[in-house]
Amino acid sequence: MTAIMLASKKRRNPKPSPKAENWVEEACRKPVAFSQVREDALIDLHIADSVASKSGRQLDGVIVASGGCTVAALAAQGKFRHMQVVDINRSQIALTMLKLWLLENGESIQRMQILGHSPMSPRMRGVFLKQIMTTLQLPQDSFGDWSEVCLIGPDHCGRYEAVFAALRKEFKINGGTIELLLKGDNYTHQALERAFARVMNQKNLVAIFGEDATANKTMPFWQHFYNQTEMVFFFRSAARNPYLFQMLAGDFPANSIYPWLNAPSKEIDTDIEFTVDNISTHIAKQPSSSLDFVHLSNTLDWLSEDAASSLLQQAGRVLRPGGTVIIRQLNSSIDIRALPNDIAWDGALSRAMLIRDRSFFYRNLHIGFKPCKSGSRS
Ligand SMILES: C[S@@+](CC[C@H](N)C(=O)[O-])C[C@H]1O[C@@H](n2cnc3c(N)ncnc32)[C@H](O)[C@@H]1O
Repeated sequence: MTAIMLASKKRRNPKPSPKAENWVEEACRKPVAFSQVREDALIDLHIADSVASKSGRQLDGVIVASGGCTVAALAAQGKFRHMQVVDINRSQIALTMLKLWLLENGESIQRMQILGHSPMSPRMRGVFLKQIMTTLQLPQDSFGDWSEVCLIGPDHCGRYEAVFAALRKEFKINGGTIELLLKGDNYTHQALERAFARVMNQKNLVAIFGEDATANKTMPFWQHFYNQTEMVFFFRSAARNPYLFQMLAGDFPANSIYPWLNAPSKEIDTDIEFTVDNISTHIAKQPSSSLDFVHLSNTLDWLSEDAASSLLQQAGRVLRPGGTVIIRQLNSSIDIRALPNDIAWDGALSRAMLIRDRSFFYRNLHIGFKPCKSGSRS
């Protein structure tokens, strides 16, 4: 694993509005925006596997770091020769490095304890974290206030995690529990709707994530999240959904955790390069036809239509024929597949993956391929 941290401007955290609630003010001070990647990595593993077997060799790719869970899952899978891990936020890169270290050096139980998913005394968590972070040359404030990091673990220290913690608190005040939701109790489902409306209102989200993250919305974000959550209760295996439980219970259901957390400990043979940069700028610097895999998370949601279009054109340029791009779409109204680009969208595959997606937050997935000269995928 190689670590190249490029220089970047000092991070500027969002500023809470003058009358923000206490938890919003506290959330705004957190350096990590997203601790846990709430994207079902089984989808990314499936796509990487399919592209690798079609090309018959290991892959070269670029991926947005986010909280590092997808990067760790792909590193554990072993289909990549080289992976560029990029994020505009240095703390997201630091968290990804921590998770990769835990993949190589820890078993499932140690990963769970260090990250805050299984009990561990704050003192011991602090001792282990300090040692790992020194080894990785990460500043001790990478994940935020040290006593909080040791108390709850890095996987609960992000701003998104603070939003969901506030949601759980509000829901609990109204007598809500996930068990009652699973039983289909109508009153509890209404209490959940009120909790979403109160906690995830536009003012709070803009204060915590900034204007850009909530631009181009199809509907109020609280409504989007509430609707998507209700879909899981109606159409999916809610009782075993790790993403649902992390959001509404702050925990995992029995025997169901994020894919990388229980992957066997292994030496990572992928050459991993970390860069603190804007993904658009980074991809624009890459040579044409040099990558097999471009993973954009839901960064297009945060961009204007013009900026999203130019990022997609760059993604098409850097992909090798047969290479793939994966995009998640949360609540943005941009018609991604209609933007001008050289990518052939695979509507059937995207739909099939959306149906399998346990991270129910996304209203759409876009999986596309750079066509080969004949126009085919391989
Ligand atoms: C788009 S956010 C969404 C969170 C993600 N769906 C999850 O569940 O973790 C993922 C990551 O993208 C990063 N990000 C957003 N816009 C970016 C950009 N233009 N360039 C690089 N990173 C970006 C954020 O810092 C964050 O770590």
